[in-house]
Amino acid sequence: MTDQTATDYPEKIRKHFSTVYQQTPLIVRSPGRVNLIGEHTDYNMGFVLPAAINKAIYLGIQKREDNEMHFVSFDMDDFYQTDLQNITRSGKLWPDYILGVVEQFRKAGAEFTGFNIVFGGDIPFGAGLSSSAALECASGFAFNELFTFRFDRRQIALMGQAAENQFVGVNCGIMDQFASVFGKKQNLIRLDCRSLEYEYIPFNDNDIEIVLFDTQVKHSLASSAYNDRRAQCEKGVSLIKQQHPEVQSLRDATEEMLLKHVKPADEETYRRCHYVVSEIQRLLDGCEDLKKDDLRAFGKRMFETHAGLRDLYEVSCPELDHLVNLVKDQPAVLGARMMGGGFGGCTINLVEKESVHALIQDVTSGYKALSGKDVQVYVANIQDGTSRVES
Ligand code: GLA
Repeated sequence: MTDQTATDYPEKIRKHFSTVYQQTPLIVRSPGRVNLIGEHTDYNMGFVLPAAINKAIYLGIQKREDNEMHFVSFDMDDFYQTDLQNITRSGKLWPDYILGVVEQFRKAGAEFTGFNIVFGGDIPFGAGLSSSAALECASGFAFNELFTFRFDRRQIALMGQAAENQFVGVNCGIMDQFASVFGKKQNLIRLDCRSLEYEYIPFNDNDIEIVLFDTQVKHSLASSAYNDRRAQCEKGVSLIKQQHPEVQSLRDATEEMLLKHVKPADEETYRRCHYVVSEIQRLLDGCEDLKKDDLRAFGKRMFETHAGLRDLYEVSCPELDHLVNLVKDQPAVLGARMMGGGFGGCTINLVEKESVHALIQDVTSGYKALSGKDVQVYVANIQDGTSRVES
């Protein structure tokens, strides 16, 4: 029922690479992420608390003697080819994550020659575990290694995000790429999305598992609603700014400002902004709980985050709500909430280790009864960020 880390991926990639290109590749691993608390706060310049997990993209790369770029998706059994003079959208999405990063590297002055890629991995697509960010960061890290470009990790994360914003066209924040690149085994990353300063917070509880319940749905609303929410946050800021020009983002806003300048003008925008301002504070309070080792108090805040995302930010969906409702009265579940952009994907649950098995059984049958669908379950553990895989 639960899955295992696909540790044989590097070997599969190496073999396939040598079959397709008759070369030995350099291999990079870049992980997916979870986020414990701080949702929809990254593009509002707030804080997030993600961690890289034991699910990753593995990307093999080697130079070519011409100016062509050849990409193979091992899992999709698909191929794409273009050259360095033709960096335009591919028309099939997955190559765009790589091409977008090439474009960003070139904007930053990197000079490429042609290269071959094979990539694959065990991050489920569309489950909200950031497979796209992992592919961007794997590509960036691999280019850096192969061509010795000497960009640092921060630049690789930022260029991954820029690729997604400008080339793929999703206006995401920095959380996913940052988590993939900066992940550290058994640590959460408390990231200030305004300054990009970060701090590792140990998360090494031997009694708790991070369990992800995957709704197995991704409603089509997801990306348009994401951009709409961003626009509403910006609208809230512009309403406040008329009276408080120093306010640059919701990070700088207070509840008082929202009540005075946003609520009377637009009730819905107020609800969105109210959620964000509370969530930024909730994360800071949650980090205090962690310092005190009070995971119960932290977990309660996760439930509050879910309620805010459901009722105020309105990015949940019935399937996610079912999954949270199914666990909310279970004493073994310290906290649970929807995770990521919303409208599908996973819930994240902090669960006492000895009860994980029974809980999975309960949720599996409960979810089937409520939604008619099968839940997918992943037990995540926290791993290091992007790195080269030595052979
Ligand atoms: C998606 C985006 C992130 C972040 C989350 C919501 O995962 O890629 O940048 O905004 O949604 O917290």
